[in-house]
Amino acid sequence: MVAAIRAEHLRKVYPQSTAGVAALEDLTLEVPTGRVYGLIGRNGAGKTTFVRICGTQLKSTSGRVSILGLEVDREDREIRSRIACIPQESRPLYFLNVEEVVLLYLTMRGMDRVEARRRTRDALAELSLTEYAKRSVQRLSGGLRRRTLCAMVLASDADLLFLDEPTTGLDPIARREVWEAIRRTSREQRTIVLTTHYLDEAEALSTRLALVERGRLVLEGTPADLRGRVRYPYRVTIQGSFPREELEGYGKVSEIEGGLLVFTREAEAREIARKALELGVRLSLGPVSLEDIFLDIVGRSIEEDTPREEAAG
Ligand SMILES: Nc1ncnc2c1ncn2[C@@H]1O[C@H](COP(=O)(O)OP(=O)(O)OP(=O)(O)O)[C@@H](O)[C@H]1O
Ligand SMILES: [Mg+2]
Repeated sequence: MVAAIRAEHLRKVYPQSTAGVAALEDLTLEVPTGRVYGLIGRNGAGKTTFVRICGTQLKSTSGRVSILGLEVDREDREIRSRIACIPQESRPLYFLNVEEVVLLYLTMRGMDRVEARRRTRDALAELSLTEYAKRSVQRLSGGLRRRTLCAMVLASDADLLFLDEPTTGLDPIARREVWEAIRRTSREQRTIVLTTHYLDEAEALSTRLALVERGRLVLEGTPADLRGRVRYPYRVTIQGSFPREELEGYGKVSEIEGGLLVFTREAEAREIARKALELGVRLSLGPVSLEDIFLDIVGRSIEEDTPREEAAG
């Protein structure tokens, strides 16, 4: 089966970059079709660079990418007709109203007017933008502009959608409406590459995820695969008094408001639960969240790269 994205040994060094630091360093990645694929990583990790190369907006320094079986650089025109992107920093055209932005985008992609009108109406309704349909973009709030861009891209019939931080600045209700629209799109067997710093969002929507750090892929797989890669796959919170020394041997312990947080393994989690029952303290236990995984993996990579004081002194 053709992959939505196949990137091989992708490298990007921006001409302006200081000391030739690579924004992407030998990135190899395959995105299957028909799902939501989450792209996460710290600021400057290289996510937008990757998305822009895939979207044929930026040339890589070396490596190869194919999009829906088409070669980037050789078949860019064809690729562009099959993808749609919301770039990280973009605004809809100021002089149009909300409805016109979506409609113009769809007709420019070659959709016939009747279909474009129907899809525009549905997308505005889906993202609660109908009441703003005739309002000019210039007069919209920042979040409403972002929503207009989401409506525009999610209304399209593209086979592969790149959403680079689509919900940044959206209120919690609008955010969930975008989630629903993303789910609806993926049910239509279309592929969505979703970049986000909201890890709850990445977790709620993505079938697979890639964690990028300093231009490299550090972790890739389903949320369950990712959990299998951390030292401590369980998190336990304890509210009440529990001897901290006892917990130290079980995993990583830290203080939280009114209690303790422990990252641990399954057998140890059971043991802690048993003791908590004996002591009569309140406990909650579950698998780690994507945020926990992120903090663990990325935190360790920062620690490894930071010279120790003794080494420096
Ligand atoms: N036009 C550019 N010229 C020079 N360097 C750039 C350019 N765009 C990005 N970079 C650098 O490339 C690296 C990767 O940037 P990129 O925008 O891909 O990161 P990102 O993962 O999308 O970050 P964020 O989460 O902040 O959006 C960073 O070090 C950044 O400073
Ligand atoms: Mg970015």
